[in-house]
Amino acid sequence: FKVPLVDNEPLKGYAPGSPERRALEAALVEMEQQLPFEIPCIVNGQEIRTGRLAKQPIPSDHARHLCSYHEADTTTVAAAIEGALAAKDQWEAMPWNDRAAIFLRAAELVSGKYRYKLMAATMLGQGKNAWQAEIDAAAELTDFFRFGVKYVEELYSQQPPKNTAGSWNRVEYRPLEGFVLAVSPFNFTAIGGNLPGAPALVGNVVVWKPSPAATYSNYLVYRILAEAGVPPGVIQFVPGPPPEVVAQCINHPDFAALHFTGSTFVFKKLWKDIAANIDKYKGYPRIVGETGGKNFHLIHRSAEIRNAVLQSVRGAFEYQGQKCSALSRLYVSSSVWEGGFKDQFLSEIARIKVGPPQDFRSFMGPVIGRSAFDRILSYIQKAKDAGGEILIGGTGDDSKGYFIQPTVILTKDPRSVTMQEEVFGPVVTVYVYQDDEFEDLLQLIDNTSAYALTGSIFATDRSALITATSKLRHAAGNVYYNEKCTGAVVGQQPFGGSRASGTNDKAGSVSLFYRFVSARSIKENF
Ligand code: ALA
Repeated sequence: FKVPLVDNEPLKGYAPGSPERRALEAALVEMEQQLPFEIPCIVNGQEIRTGRLAKQPIPSDHARHLCSYHEADTTTVAAAIEGALAAKDQWEAMPWNDRAAIFLRAAELVSGKYRYKLMAATMLGQGKNAWQAEIDAAAELTDFFRFGVKYVEELYSQQPPKNTAGSWNRVEYRPLEGFVLAVSPFNFTAIGGNLPGAPALVGNVVVWKPSPAATYSNYLVYRILAEAGVPPGVIQFVPGPPPEVVAQCINHPDFAALHFTGSTFVFKKLWKDIAANIDKYKGYPRIVGETGGKNFHLIHRSAEIRNAVLQSVRGAFEYQGQKCSALSRLYVSSSVWEGGFKDQFLSEIARIKVGPPQDFRSFMGPVIGRSAFDRILSYIQKAKDAGGEILIGGTGDDSKGYFIQPTVILTKDPRSVTMQEEVFGPVVTVYVYQDDEFEDLLQLIDNTSAYALTGSIFATDRSALITATSKLRHAAGNVYYNEKCTGAVVGQQPFGGSRASGTNDKAGSVSLFYRFVSARSIKENF
């Protein structure tokens, strides 16, 4: 079986009056007319209504909710695990080309039939504007499924080991023994697809707990996978309550792996809980996680100012800074800062329109919910209390939705709290360094990088790029030259970070799939 050559899903432009703009507008109107939806758990292909209802509010209009969903209870989670284990033999035994065809079909459904519906769900429920929804729910999700097939084929076509006279050696990549728990975040619908999808593609069965704040779009992803042919039981859709569902899964003796994207705090807690349970399991669970970031742009004195400004605005404020990769600490050389960067940066930010994501003029939408709104404003307050100067923004308005103005804090202390802790919102802290301090600054950046997800270096002087890349060897898993630190593309920049940012297993690459297989060597004598 040869997978057809894959390429990235082309991005659509959504210009006023364009066919895609009209289709998306129609999908939004239809969804607004039909909401709120009622979402069941899905176990073995059957809808389960537990009657324990929770709501997914619309963050730009919190009086309304996009859906209410039935939270899984212990009976439902137990049935999900047992059902997944029962579905395992047949799924494992399915020939690879059939599994591949299912995921290639899912990619076509995302790219075509369901594109605008998925985008509308992501816009209304997760607060993304059309272009952010396009790169996520349309393009990246399609890419994860298409490129996933390509990567698994690469994995299965590894060069076999050496044979010796009279014997034949081979290696087989089996799925893991047991089930995989996928715990996905609110901020990318595509990650909702990849967390259960990647382990399933290599033959695993998965219990999937989506984020409460992305329940509806993730439910649509589940439906697409089922329509594409993923058999009942192979992926079980069990929305919250998060701690209970997760605890029940990791207490089970057949728990084989965690595929997680979310906060560092929760990931560390799960890691400890798994460690505490280690004697219960048949084997050593695989733990794969992508967590927080404290991502930087480093602007060298040789940087091209206009590009550095525009990339910094986008890196910090697209999707309200709620990407794990978002720019949140900005180190600018004093000559660049005074030589135009500061004025241009602030005037670009002043033009940013914050509003409901379904209004195509909004560059920024709401943050995801009440606790995010409160946390972000409290970080702004902490920065002010510590002597930080608010250059623009700093305020929020939660009267209708959870809107926070794009905020720039100038600090004289490169170790201040918002230079080190993850805010996960539209807040960037700037530290202006003297041009001749560049080398010392690299040391400081490295020392203050508890996280190590993404970082960008802006310079036209190649030696600055080389020095920074070498001194910051472990400060970021994704490094960009003269480009923003967000927006990794599947198949182009394998994505992930180390230190507190995760296990760096690189979504969008073959590496990820190695974590969900268990190799078996077979030697046969003739
Ligand atoms: N993969 C996403 C990005 O790079 C999080 O922005």
